[in-house]
Amino acid sequence: MNLSLLSEKIILRRMTLDDLDDILQVEKQCFTMPWTRGMFVNEISDVKYSHPILARWEGEYLSEEGAVFANPVCGYAVFWKIIDEIHIGNLAIAPLFRRKGLASFFLEHIFKMAREWKVVHITLEVRASNQGAINLYKSFGFREIAIRKQYYLNPDEDAIVMLKDDI
Ligand SMILES: CC(C)(COP(=O)(O)OP(=O)(O)OC[C@H]1O[C@@H](n2cnc3c(N)ncnc32)[C@H](O)[C@@H]1OP(=O)(O)O)[C@@H](O)C(=O)NCCC(=O)NCCS
Repeated sequence: MNLSLLSEKIILRRMTLDDLDDILQVEKQCFTMPWTRGMFVNEISDVKYSHPILARWEGEYLSEEGAVFANPVCGYAVFWKIIDEIHIGNLAIAPLFRRKGLASFFLEHIFKMAREWKVVHITLEVRASNQGAINLYKSFGFREIAIRKQYYLNPDEDAIVMLKDDI
């Protein structure tokens, strides 16, 4: 299933507090250092420069294994606009919805905002072993610019800092 088919049923919108129960489940499936409820609440309610966005399937979703899910969260992203920079703080796609172009859809949206806001570069950090995500970001023109030693816990691991400046 490709994105053009998915997108008929997928709504991309700002995250709300009502989404958090579902988001926290996906977050635990995606990360060994998941963000907490408090961190998401802060992004949604308090951080003025934060843009937390969410994609949710409208209606019943029938998985390839035949299971039915009602209005599942497909994925989400949290990015910050700080002066002329965007920093992507979180990007997660639920396992059910991977390799269907959804992370690319989120990145395209963030690039669109970046062009509207005349942002000059976009940065992010990624676990050094997260080759899937690194491949994704490189395919969008991000390049590795620095290593943050032992940035992650569980397991301890370096972060690769990636930058895109041809927006
Ligand atoms: C990494 C992640 C965001 C990718 O989401 P996705 O929606 O599956 O990505 P897309 O379908 O848009 O992938 C686009 C391209 O990126 C690359 N890519 C994505 N996931 C990959 C993987 N697991 N292995 C290798 N390449 C991958 C491929 O080139 C892919 O194109 P293809 O499917 O035609 O081969 C998703 O696997 C995820 O949420 N993982 C857990 C959380 C995470 O790692 N977040 C990023 C933190 S920095």
